[in-house]
Amino acid sequence: MVKNEFPLGLSYDDVLLEPRYSVIKSRKNVSLKTNLTKNIKINLPIVSANMDTVTESKMAITLAQMGGIGIIHRFMTIERQIEEVKKVKRFTNYIINNPFTLKPEQTINDYEQLALETGINGFPVIDKNGILVGIITRRDVAFHNNKNKSVKELMTPQSKLITSHQSVSLEEATNLFAKHRIEKLPLVDKKNKLVGLIAAKDIRKTISFPDASRDKKGQLLVGAAIGVSGDFMERAETLIKNHTDILVLDIAHGHSAIAIEALKTLKKKYKNQEVIAGNVATAEGVRDLIKAGADAVKIGVGPGSACSTRIVAGAGVPQLSAILNCAQEALKSGVPVIADGGIRFPADVVKALAGGATTVMIGNLLAGTDEAPGVIINKNGRRYKFYRGMASFGANVTRRAMDTNDDNLLYDNLMIEGAEGLVPYRGKVQEVVDYLLNGLRSGMSYNNAATIKDLSKNAKFVRITENSLKESHPHDLEKA
Ligand code: XMP
Repeated sequence: MVKNEFPLGLSYDDVLLEPRYSVIKSRKNVSLKTNLTKNIKINLPIVSANMDTVTESKMAITLAQMGGIGIIHRFMTIERQIEEVKKVKRFTNYIINNPFTLKPEQTINDYEQLALETGINGFPVIDKNGILVGIITRRDVAFHNNKNKSVKELMTPQSKLITSHQSVSLEEATNLFAKHRIEKLPLVDKKNKLVGLIAAKDIRKTISFPDASRDKKGQLLVGAAIGVSGDFMERAETLIKNHTDILVLDIAHGHSAIAIEALKTLKKKYKNQEVIAGNVATAEGVRDLIKAGADAVKIGVGPGSACSTRIVAGAGVPQLSAILNCAQEALKSGVPVIADGGIRFPADVVKALAGGATTVMIGNLLAGTDEAPGVIINKNGRRYKFYRGMASFGANVTRRAMDTNDDNLLYDNLMIEGAEGLVPYRGKVQEVVDYLLNGLRSGMSYNNAATIKDLSKNAKFVRITENSLKESHPHDLEKA
């Protein structure tokens, strides 16, 4: 028989953070570095949700450049998901390991053809043994009408080239580009064999994002979601082979035998692969997932803006209480927790991290940006983008069609625990993230917190009433 006991569950709007005596002089001085998983650090605590209206490569690239990370959703074929991951991993890899090349005996016609196919304008020229003999660029071929001229005749020969070695550092390479005003830096071994190439364009991209989340090779970090049944091990294996940094086990009820089994199978086969498991909302859920090998745990059952789990299934824990209970449990083993869903204001990020989460996962606020999949919709003179829960009717239909390839599907027995609709168009991801982070920095300074860890150490929540919530929002103002 169920006990007649009702523990209190609070959400972001039910609390405020008492201001603390602070020695933080400038909001700019706080550090937003944090742990995403046990072994992966990122430079700001924002993770984009693995939803088909939120995260594909464009979102993941932009967030990783800023210092956060995106999790590519799984509602597509394995091949397409890999392509999305590859686009992120290739993005600012400033060393190109297998550059496109030409042979000296090829013609300007061949140059034009390759330039058209690749969108690239400069190619190292190598002989049949792979030895670098020159470089040919748009400048060399401009104004030459005889397209049958050989590459050799027009290229800049090796003797005039600036080259470097394969383990050249970013700093060394940057200095060479600045000193010699070159656009391409070929990398050669001791025998002058071409082993790589650096393009000035890629160096510029790398330098302009000093806080980007990168792996050891300098490539952007990316995560990808997998399910817990069906093709999930095949998907995992292919993602791992293609250098996905983090896998996210995507299941609404993560405290379940099927999720734990999947996690164990995955971690048994790929011990060193970072895996985020979830979603859970209780300390027991966190404990069991950590025991099964989770490197981070996602917290949130039903707080999301497109969730109807609480209305349909009656299951859930108000998000702030869920975070506090879960973070306390996770702290025992040093496993980070991610506050997933329900972020509407910058203050919600502050409260989630103060409650012990190390990062927040966001769907709705990012779905309205340019970098989210989907088009801008004009309605009654206002701009929107489409957003849907991954258990919504539409997402269910898409998934079923993907799984069966059957045109005559019967849409019965669908599990609808999500909503779909329009969210305001919000411009660039950068603007939304800046809005959230400015609030976070301010919140940290009110809590005398130079780091996110300090924030959860120093925070003191105060419970508020509906009247104080009214008082908290701007009030008694005529619309201007
Ligand atoms: P926000 O509030 O940022 O939340 O829109 C994003 C998170 O919502 C979860 N999610 C769902 N939850 N039914 C649910 O109950 C759904 O259809 C659904 N789709 C997404 C998910 O955790 C996401 O990160």
